[in-house]
Amino acid sequence: MSNELAFEERDVAHDAEFPEAIEALRTRRSGHNFDPDADLSDETLEELIRDAALAPSSYNLQPWEFVVVQDDDRLDEIVDIAYGQEHIREAGTAILVAGHTDAKTADRVFDEWAEAGRMDEEAAQQTKAQSVEMYEDDRTGRDYAIRNASLAAENLLLSAHARGLAATPMIGFDQERIAEFLDLPDDEIPVVLIAVGPSGGEESERLPRRSVEEILHRETY
Ligand SMILES: Cc1cc2nc3c(=O)[nH]c(=O)nc-3n(C[C@H](O)[C@H](O)[C@H](O)COP(=O)(O)O)c2cc1C
Repeated sequence: MSNELAFEERDVAHDAEFPEAIEALRTRRSGHNFDPDADLSDETLEELIRDAALAPSSYNLQPWEFVVVQDDDRLDEIVDIAYGQEHIREAGTAILVAGHTDAKTADRVFDEWAEAGRMDEEAAQQTKAQSVEMYEDDRTGRDYAIRNASLAAENLLLSAHARGLAATPMIGFDQERIAEFLDLPDDEIPVVLIAVGPSGGEESERLPRRSVEEILHRETY
């Protein structure tokens, strides 16, 4: 028996306050069929980044950056860095989601916690010092970058899908080369590369998903 979810058969309106949101996440695909003759408008690009930035993050530190490449020659270089993934060129827009490996937004963000009355001044200063210290550890800093930036990437993918665009997340690229090519600061790492652009139409069938029974563990693994 196939464990593929029958998305179209589900009653998405049942028990859902935002049925369109449920529908969007159930129908999102990693699109590989782009319209090579259509471009993403600047306005849409900014909306995608705005939606990505609404993702949750540790202490609202928002430790992410988005580096967008649309120039044809530079896209050729990105295709090469991504081991020849031609769909990036057809998409017309490549967005590298980069993550901070240290809490460099902490000064501003913990001031905002205090100004909003969500923490008193002393607690804000203490929590800031703790988070800055915690992320100084190389392993924790790297985990921090990847966890937070991945959530922003998923927001961006869902926003693109909700706007009728095709988008694919990718980690099939040379990390060192892309960091160098895009001039990333030393305390940031490339997390996910996203090819996004107007859809060229149908996508291939979704591959099966592991069933809920298989992946849901109650109380303990
Ligand atoms: C971490 C990660 C890395 C991925 N890397 C690539 C990639 O390098 N190239 C690509 O074409 N797709 C890549 N994908 C897309 C997956 O192949 C895709 O998400 C998976 O097959 C499920 O299909 P769906 O997203 O359409 O449901 C990646 C996805 C994730 C989450």
